[in-house]
Amino acid sequence: MGGRFSRPLSSERLEGELKPRVIMHMGSSIDGRIVPEHWPDDLTEQLTEIYEGIHEALGGDAWCVGRVTMADFAEGEPIAATAMQAYARTTWKAPTANAGPYAVAVDRYAKLHMNIDNINGDPIVMILSEDVSDDHLAELQRDGISYIFAGASEIDLSLALGVLGRDFGIRTLLLEGGGGINGSFLASGLIDEISLLILPIADGSAGMPTTFDRPAGDATRLLLKGVDRLPHDVLHLRYDVM
Ligand SMILES: NC(=O)c1ccc[n+]([C@@H]2O[C@H](COP(=O)([O-])OP(=O)(O)OC[C@H]3O[C@@H](n4cnc5c(N)ncnc54)[C@H](OP(=O)(O)O)[C@@H]3O)[C@@H](O)[C@H]2O)c1
Repeated sequence: MGGRFSRPLSSERLEGELKPRVIMHMGSSIDGRIVPEHWPDDLTEQLTEIYEGIHEALGGDAWCVGRVTMADFAEGEPIAATAMQAYARTTWKAPTANAGPYAVAVDRYAKLHMNIDNINGDPIVMILSEDVSDDHLAELQRDGISYIFAGASEIDLSLALGVLGRDFGIRTLLLEGGGGINGSFLASGLIDEISLLILPIADGSAGMPTTFDRPAGDATRLLLKGVDRLPHDVLHLRYDVM
């Protein structure tokens, strides 16, 4: 099966007008922990309801998560596929993926075996490196999962955004964790805006993922543009990235 988008990448256009606006949308304890393992169930449920409501209101054409977070949505055990051909390393759009919002994940080493083609109706799109095997591409096409490429062996997140804009028409992308992928977008200067829900809870668990997990580097200055006190004493902070 050939890809529907076989033309070569034009990095200038991709880097410019076609790159979606990125809004990071997250919920955390006051100390930035993002995994509810030790949180009271009622607070977690309240956060989930508020989080999903704001997710809808933000109106993204796509939401994007890291490989670890996307793994939680996979169903069943991996079912291997064997490629009967070599696949071009170009965007492949599944026949059922005609409209967003899209559920996007970064999976440079092809570790994800979803066995589903959508999450709550949102078609899945994988961001891959060109190093992945033809067998994995056969698996994705068999399962109706779209994919793009954004680097030979490592992912160029800026390029990935441009390809998502060009090939899927994504104009606003909600970056929704976890800390690893958020940290990578932050370190690359690719976050435009932040929507952060703070729960009235102090966690402090050592070694847990936080809002941004990245190697040490220059901190990013933000411009506060909104603070709302929501039900259950949840704070909604909105920032622009300067
Ligand atoms: N509270 C919230 O709002 C919220 C939201 C989302 C998730 N979470 C929680 O966060 C936890 C997971 O967080 P996490 O930080 O461990 O994982 P994550 O951010 O979901 O995924 C991290 C993985 O993404 C890939 N990745 C990150 N940066 C990359 C880059 N520059 N290039 C290519 N790939 C890159 C890597 O995959 P490879 O290892 O395959 O290279 C990395 O291991 C889960 O428990 C989840 O429930 C909470």
